[in-house]
Amino acid sequence: MRAIDLRSDTVTRPSAAMRQAMAEAVVGDDVFGDDPTVRELEEVAAELLGKAAGLYLPSGTMSNQAALLAWTERGDEVFLHERSHILLYEQAGAAVIGSLQTHTFASEDGMLDPETMEEFVHSGEDPHNAPTRVVALENTHNHCGGRVLDPAGILAVRLFCDRHGLALHLDGARVANAAVASVRSMAELAAPFDSVSLCLSKGLGAPVGSVLAGPAEFVKRARRARKMLGGGMRQAGILAAAGLYALRNNVSRLAEDHRRAHALAERLATVPGLAVELRSVETNMVFVSTRPSGRRAAEVARLFSEAGALCLAESPWRIRFVTHLDVDDADVEEAGEIVARTMAALV
Ligand SMILES: Cc1ncc(COP(=O)(O)O)c(C=O)c1O
Repeated sequence: MRAIDLRSDTVTRPSAAMRQAMAEAVVGDDVFGDDPTVRELEEVAAELLGKAAGLYLPSGTMSNQAALLAWTERGDEVFLHERSHILLYEQAGAAVIGSLQTHTFASEDGMLDPETMEEFVHSGEDPHNAPTRVVALENTHNHCGGRVLDPAGILAVRLFCDRHGLALHLDGARVANAAVASVRSMAELAAPFDSVSLCLSKGLGAPVGSVLAGPAEFVKRARRARKMLGGGMRQAGILAAAGLYALRNNVSRLAEDHRRAHALAERLATVPGLAVELRSVETNMVFVSTRPSGRRAAEVARLFSEAGALCLAESPWRIRFVTHLDVDDADVEEAGEIVARTMAALV
């Protein structure tokens, strides 16, 4: 049986054209700064994000962690959303690698509220408190449903950072999805931020890689952090070529993934036993509640997956489906039918 893999947009495989670009890449030793393809990718990505400089890293996780290291010193504090990737899915890297204290804030949409942060921000003058140095947002926000952050909210967080002299980092793993969904450029969305990490291996379809962009001095510090983390790669141009191909060919087509996610959400909303908040489907993710069925997400996701629609249980009652460039309209339709059939046998 052929499975339709909707677990994540990271499951895509490089296309023949992307592999061709990789095979033809001109390479050098990137730790010596000799790889022209890596340099080109860093420049192209920095320009797309409207920043002075870029740094190629193996993963989004390393990109975020290098950014935190570049902005902070041991014992500093970082403000994060309580369901951010940096907090939940990066193996406590902020604490383990950066010796940083994280202070988290809750919200439904992934935004941070300046008024609440105002109560907890510390300048470092008082010897009791860890000085707050960085605020990080995530756009799109993965655990909040692939939502696009509200620009007015981002601006308010920017003003808060300016008032307190803090750096504002964007975990922009899917900022290309946010840009396409809001019909704005990535540079526009990145403008309020001091630094941005962008993943090439999610919806954009490269096998590996992330670019961290920001001011030149920041990128210089992040480059040192990357080496410390073991992310200094040698003939990395062979991978960077896939990233360049992804940026040149796979950004605008994200609109198709978003359209398919909407179609899937609408189909799943008709299935007895499931609940879908259609309004919150803004990009390529569909979150489905299994509460109406009384069945836990882990059990239901296992049954969907065994029937051929691979998905992930994200929390006790919530399943995540993600569209990407390796699924087409027919796959999405079939996945909807598999889910409907499986649920009909359950409820
Ligand atoms: C929002 C977000 N940030 C960062 C990452 C980390 O990327 P990687 O898996 O390449 O380390 C992910 C991965 O899914 C993500 O969803």
